[in-house]
Amino acid sequence: TPAGPLLAIESSCDETACAILAPDGTVLAERLVSQEDHVAFGGVVPEIAARAHLALLPDLARKTLESSGLARSDLAAVAASTGPGLIGGLIVGASFGKGLAIALGKPFIAVNHIEAHALSARLPGVFDGHLTFPYLLLLVSGGHCQCLAVEGIGHYRRLGGTIDDAAGEAFDKVAKMLGLGWPGGPALERLAREGNPAAFALPRPLKGRAGCDFSFSGLKTAIARQLEPYGSAPLPRQVAADLAASFQQAVADVIEDRIIHALAMMERPTALVAAGGVAANATLRSRLTALAGSHGLPFVAPPLRLCTDNAVMVGWAALEICREAGRRSLPLPDNRAMRP
Ligand code: KG4
Ligand code: ZN
Repeated sequence: TPAGPLLAIESSCDETACAILAPDGTVLAERLVSQEDHVAFGGVVPEIAARAHLALLPDLARKTLESSGLARSDLAAVAASTGPGLIGGLIVGASFGKGLAIALGKPFIAVNHIEAHALSARLPGVFDGHLTFPYLLLLVSGGHCQCLAVEGIGHYRRLGGTIDDAAGEAFDKVAKMLGLGWPGGPALERLAREGNPAAFALPRPLKGRAGCDFSFSGLKTAIARQLEPYGSAPLPRQVAADLAASFQQAVADVIEDRIIHALAMMERPTALVAAGGVAANATLRSRLTALAGSHGLPFVAPPLRLCTDNAVMVGWAALEICREAGRRSLPLPDNRAMRP
């Protein structure tokens, strides 16, 4: 474990974020910028994201340090997400982090972004009662949609994932078809409150199928077909609301079914954990809470700011990795250190 506070950096998508954590996981400071430059394009533009990270990161890191009240020389290590994600942004974050680590003469810890999501539910304060292994993680965001058996630090078994779009991507695309802005998930959820979830008979892709893979592109196509009669005419608000509610219901049904399968693929899971932007969805949350309860398990979802991309989870994962390496008296594995 680092002998002092650690600076963590996240830059894998369109969030530029820094956090400083004490060795016990206490968050000493955090700063996050959700890049606005992509809104006009209706989605994240990798090139723009990378340039924005480059422009934002130095100042953000300085301000984070300032608000922690620490001096640069107090930092005992630097960590950054080094993949998976958009490569331009990852290179910016990793290079900045490594440069800083070299200047300070302190170690650099490379963190797998999915691993950071996977371990975020173990952050102090997220779940009262310590979250122990193994647990089932449903990671549902704009870029990811997968079920992981989290069996220990460094031990993750992928039980299944999407064979086409990520869940958030489907929310965003359907929202766009319904004339809502980007990101579409929150807007679609709001509109769905005015709609009837049984108004449209939409497919439930892969429901009942063995394993726990996901598919969402068929749902998107089904919505497009329902929209055909309206051509370029404006969509009546009630129709849009009914479609939004029906879509959300279909997604929740499918995810519930896939989670039932995923739970059966694990031996004695301790909890059902959800992370990623889509885990903010209230319909999905209440379904997963009930589902976990029916299996005698707690449902754990980190607060939204820790569910979506952030640097706190990166710092926490770095601490967990170091602690585990220390426990086994091993040096950090090669792929953890100094490699983007
Ligand atoms: O985790 P996240 O902030 O970024 C990554 O993709 O890594 O997730 C963003 C995604 C977007 O697709 C957004 O539409 C979706 O999460 N999302 C939601 C909700 N809030 C955000 N989807 C459904 N319901 C929501 N309330
Ligand atoms: Zn993410």
